[in-house]
Amino acid sequence: MSLSGKVALVTGGSRGIGFATAKILSDNGASVAITGKDPDRLEESATKISNSFAIVADIRNSDQVKNAIEKTIEKFGRLDILVNNAGIFPRIKQLHEIEEDEWDEVLDVNLTGQFRVTKEAIPHLQKTSGSIINISSDAGLKAYQGFNADAYSATKAALIVLTKCWALEYSKDKIRVNCICPGVVDTDMTKPFVKTQKDRDFMDAEHPLGRMGKPEEVAKAVLYFASDDASWTTGAILAVDGGESTK
Ligand SMILES: NC(=O)c1ccc[n+]([C@@H]2O[C@H](COP(=O)([O-])OP(=O)(O)OC[C@H]3O[C@@H](n4cnc5c(N)ncnc54)[C@H](OP(=O)(O)O)[C@@H]3O)[C@@H](O)[C@H]2O)c1
Repeated sequence: MSLSGKVALVTGGSRGIGFATAKILSDNGASVAITGKDPDRLEESATKISNSFAIVADIRNSDQVKNAIEKTIEKFGRLDILVNNAGIFPRIKQLHEIEEDEWDEVLDVNLTGQFRVTKEAIPHLQKTSGSIINISSDAGLKAYQGFNADAYSATKAALIVLTKCWALEYSKDKIRVNCICPGVVDTDMTKPFVKTQKDRDFMDAEHPLGRMGKPEEVAKAVLYFASDDASWTTGAILAVDGGESTK
């Protein structure tokens, strides 16, 4: 299997895209540490992923992040793959209606959270010439009429340029850094926006391929970037979005 002997850490691996990612990495031979905030959900998810290990870690908290990396190394002895996946989506509001604490919370998780995890992971990835996969969003690539989640869009755009910065900074260590921009994927994050058949029809029609995505379809792209099949690919930004961002 392509990831035999490799160790991965997937933040937000307890559900949605993170869970599907942890599962596909494990199915392809990796040992996988998954993190999240909710301990029960995390433990339950870990039972469904072979060779996995659950660590409670809120990426807003540097000590918990440090602990997650240390526990991964203690358990599996190395780190080859970091998937920066954990994220939150704010309440839909126009910019002039957003309170500063709401803005700060989104940046704290979706941007500074990725900084905290990556900073701790880098010394271990330097030893293995490992790989980082950032989960951004179509919302980081362009503006969408009526999307109205500016803090989210800002963090996802930042993650795209950070992918390129980190790819250059750590190319000397042969660490590859790549990024995936999903369109609308059927997860808990998007459930509030697809409550009725009319909502779903609207979301499906937003994508030229005629439907929302599945977490596994994003996970397959992560698997590619994590594997040696992508050995000459770094700093790449891949839309996995049913064509949404091409419109
Ligand atoms: N779904 C989409 O349409 C879509 C589209 C584009 C990009 N994305 C991006 O893809 C990633 C995953 O999204 P998803 O739809 O799978 O989300 P989801 O179903 O809401 O799952 C989010 C995951 O992140 C974890 N998480 C949230 N806040 C955290 C924090 N402060 N510290 C640690 N873990 C935290 C959650 O853990 P708990 O359960 O413990 O809170 C959960 O495991 C996100 O970065 C999202 O922005 C999603």
